[in-house]
Amino acid sequence: MKNRFRIAVFSSGSGSNFQAIVDAVSEGRLDVSVELLICDKTQAQVVKRAHSHGIPAFVFQAKDYSSKEQYETDILGQLLEREVDLVVLAGYMRIISATLLQPFAGRIINIHPSLLPAFPGANALGQALAHGVKVTGVTVHLVDGGMDTGPIIAQRALDVAEGDTQDMLEKKIHAVEHVLLPQVIGWIREDRLRLDGRKVAVIPQSAQIDNSANGD
Ligand code: GRF
Repeated sequence: MKNRFRIAVFSSGSGSNFQAIVDAVSEGRLDVSVELLICDKTQAQVVKRAHSHGIPAFVFQAKDYSSKEQYETDILGQLLEREVDLVVLAGYMRIISATLLQPFAGRIINIHPSLLPAFPGANALGQALAHGVKVTGVTVHLVDGGMDTGPIIAQRALDVAEGDTQDMLEKKIHAVEHVLLPQVIGWIREDRLRLDGRKVAVIPQSAQIDNSANGD
């Protein structure tokens, strides 16, 4: 295992998940280096968070470019320059295209605030509340070319209480996300995911130790 496992986080907003990752690293719970923030909103709170932790931020506005391919080419340059191993989409409100997907195949994950395949796309919490579900949750998945369609790595369910507002539900969702996302990044850092079709298996840590003991 190489010494530093470098990640880039993409976010368009508040960045509480970015913060959860940074906190997990600084508290020694996650052995990665947060190399870069990618953000498409100049005023987003996540940019301030990155600055306050001394993490470089590439902030762009899509309207300054003539196409998605152009701004994704700039992003790709940033990722390659910093030798990023894993891209983490955490509240990044844009679909990733082949410009990034091809060079980072299998190395881009996304966190989504529902139990996929229910309620993909924007405003998943609002969709879940409007539908009247009693249980919702959080999904972390590999990113493919679709809208929240990639292979599911991990899911956690939580109850929707009667009278839950969107704000109340969001608080519960965030609490789950802030634990689950650093955990999944840790699994990837430890090379514990195995992909079979669209099924993702997470190898127990003990099985890995057994393998290395056998010289496999
Ligand atoms: C999270 O709920 C995430 O699941 C969704 O966008 C939200 C981002 O929140 N994709 P934050 O910016 O990390 O606070």
